[in-house]
Amino acid sequence: MGDIGFSLRAATVDDAEFLWDMLLAAVNWDPTREAVSRDQAREDRRTAHYVEGWVRRGDLGVVAVDPGGHPVGAVWLRLFGADDAGYGFVAADVPEVSLGVVPSWRGRGVGRALMAEMARRAGDSGFTRICLSVERANRARRLYLDEGFTTVESGPDSDTMVKVVAVR
Ligand SMILES: CC(C)(COP(=O)(O)OP(=O)(O)OC[C@H]1O[C@@H](n2cnc3c(N)ncnc32)[C@H](O)[C@@H]1OP(=O)(O)O)[C@@H](O)C(=O)NCCC(=O)NCCS
Repeated sequence: MGDIGFSLRAATVDDAEFLWDMLLAAVNWDPTREAVSRDQAREDRRTAHYVEGWVRRGDLGVVAVDPGGHPVGAVWLRLFGADDAGYGFVAADVPEVSLGVVPSWRGRGVGRALMAEMARRAGDSGFTRICLSVERANRARRLYLDEGFTTVESGPDSDTMVKVVAVR
């Protein structure tokens, strides 16, 4: 347990609904935009494929829990083929990161701890790189830069970022 009251554990099949919550948090990061609903997210292939069928072969996830064991944040990796590419796709052997923390726990180190742990576990699993897509206006981008991601492609509003992870 960290000294500010959360701990990390591996994500399991039982975390699927919480991962949907965190996917929605990521999709709806900008409060000035009309929010995407859960039903809309489930119906939109390019959104739903980040969680659909969790846990799939090759998926890896970490959940942060409060002292009562309630999930407060999650990070997970999923591989996509070029024919079903995620927004941050770089190659079929580079899993894409999704990250979200519940609003009341933001700004307390949960996101950073989750990302660092995910990078370690990715290396332990034999991955050499992880990738993601982030809109440039999202403050999450700062966190990714701090955690060693670099921009490999820039679109009009968003960046594709990659982090090289240490294989152990
Ligand atoms: C982005 C997010 C996962 C970060 O998690 P967090 O637990 O708030 O982050 P931490 O407290 O570990 O670290 C915060 C760092 O992330 C950045 N940051 C991103 N969003 C932030 C926010 N809303 N408030 C404060 N810092 C934020 C800052 O660089 C900060 O670094 P600092 O503490 O040195 O200033 C979380 O704010 C979130 O769920 N946001 C909405 C969903 C989202 O945008 N997901 C990513 C989509 S690409």
